[in-house]
Amino acid sequence: VKCIGVLTSGGDAPGMNAAIRAVARTCLNKGIEVYGVRLGYKGLHEGKFMKFDRHSTRNIINNGGTILKSARFPEFKDPEIRKEAIEQMKKVGMEALVVIGGDGSYNGALKLTEMGVNCIGLPGTIDNDIPDTDFTIGFDTALNTIVEALDRLRDTSSSHQRCTILEVMGRRCGDLAINAGIAAGAELVITSDTGYDEDKIIERLKQSKASDKDHAIVVITEHITDVNELAKKVEAATGFETRANVLGHLQRGGRPTARDRVLASRMGVKAVELLEEGKGGLCVGEVHGQITAFPITEVLSHKHVADAGIYEDAKKLR
Ligand code: F6P
Repeated sequence: VKCIGVLTSGGDAPGMNAAIRAVARTCLNKGIEVYGVRLGYKGLHEGKFMKFDRHSTRNIINNGGTILKSARFPEFKDPEIRKEAIEQMKKVGMEALVVIGGDGSYNGALKLTEMGVNCIGLPGTIDNDIPDTDFTIGFDTALNTIVEALDRLRDTSSSHQRCTILEVMGRRCGDLAINAGIAAGAELVITSDTGYDEDKIIERLKQSKASDKDHAIVVITEHITDVNELAKKVEAATGFETRANVLGHLQRGGRPTARDRVLASRMGVKAVELLEEGKGGLCVGEVHGQITAFPITEVLSHKHVADAGIYEDAKKLR
């Protein structure tokens, strides 16, 4: 392969820049031309390409966000739009692509590969909801951000003897919530894996109030319920003064942790090596510490499974 493009797509995630840098450096070290594609698949369609040299990815490994910008571009599902994107790639001689994003982005990578352009997907999302990888790029940073927020919330929760409910991101995936809940010593974690039962939640918080605990922290994944309504119900039923907080996009920004930088860098190297071997339609994962690759078709047919043990352990820590 003589020329490779790299793009970031979907929600940004800390560590994406480290992945871009790794793709660029690995290419340049191998004498492969490399282009950054701005604005994800939208930019691919519009030919928004920037040729990288050794200086282009300087001083970005420590920055959150993505220097290439990101966009959601549902129009890419249309085969005609994809054909036009491939024409844009041909104009600069771009033969293959590294796509950094979530499962939606993997779909585009698969479709392009089926149309003759080898693509490799890297799991870039804070949600950790991609199957066949223990961790996604950005998860560790977002988790640390949430834990820091919970530590701060604990201070005020404890001072006012309140119950504090924090809604965190993850789409349908509870990994951010359960890991943050354990790390911050939460009373209760609610995710799609625990199920949502208001009676049980209230019962648990009543027990906690009846014991020597004067405050409580509840972590809940987004899209489960309206946390402000839940706070009102908890307050009425338990007597705990209760406040709800939604952490929101704050979780998506910030300096990537060392863990995310290393993961992203190693995955970026792997992606270029796979393309050099003439492979496409694969995505990279880290399984038991090993950087490895799986067919995108396989990964998309799997469901991310939460570690059952972590929920059991969380209960033992109450
Ligand atoms: O997939 C990353 C994510 O941050 C999810 O956790 C969240 O549900 C979604 O993106 C938010 O999307 P947007 O940035 O488009 O509001």
